[in-house]
Amino acid sequence: MQVKYVKPLLAASALIGLSQWSGLGLAQTADQLYKRGLAATCANCHGTDGKGVVDGGMPLINTLTSEQMLAKLKAYKSGALEGTIMPQLAKGYTDEQLTIIANQLGKKQ
Ligand code: HEC
Repeated sequence: MQVKYVKPLLAASALIGLSQWSGLGLAQTADQLYKRGLAATCANCHGTDGKGVVDGGMPLINTLTSEQMLAKLKAYKSGALEGTIMPQLAKGYTDEQLTIIANQLGKKQ
């Protein structure tokens, strides 16, 4: 009698454990995808490596730290920094999104 219940119980707890684990895994992946997705739009002009197309007026951004990049993005948003493209673009993001983008793209020391 006891033995009969042990196996299903073990299987059930293993399933619960697995679903909790994979649920967590999915949540982290979705979070990563969101962050990468936000930062990926910048690659159209600045390149996936942040090198930009300097001759085409797309500056190098892979030399900036996250703090420096966030400061520039916020300055574009507030109008403190002028530009052809970045002021409009920066206004489209919340400060939280700009922080995520700067953290994704900023140079890691
Ligand atoms: C449509 C092209 C385009 C896209 C997309 C774009 N940028 Fe820019 N970026 C520019 C241009 C052009 C400049 C020069 C300033 C200006 O004229 O707006 C610039 C300047 C910058 C600068 C200042 C560099 C410096 O050293 O002064 C930063 C930082 C920057 N971009 C970050 C980003 C980030 C982060 C994204 C993604 C959210 C992004 N850019 C998307 C074209 C683009």
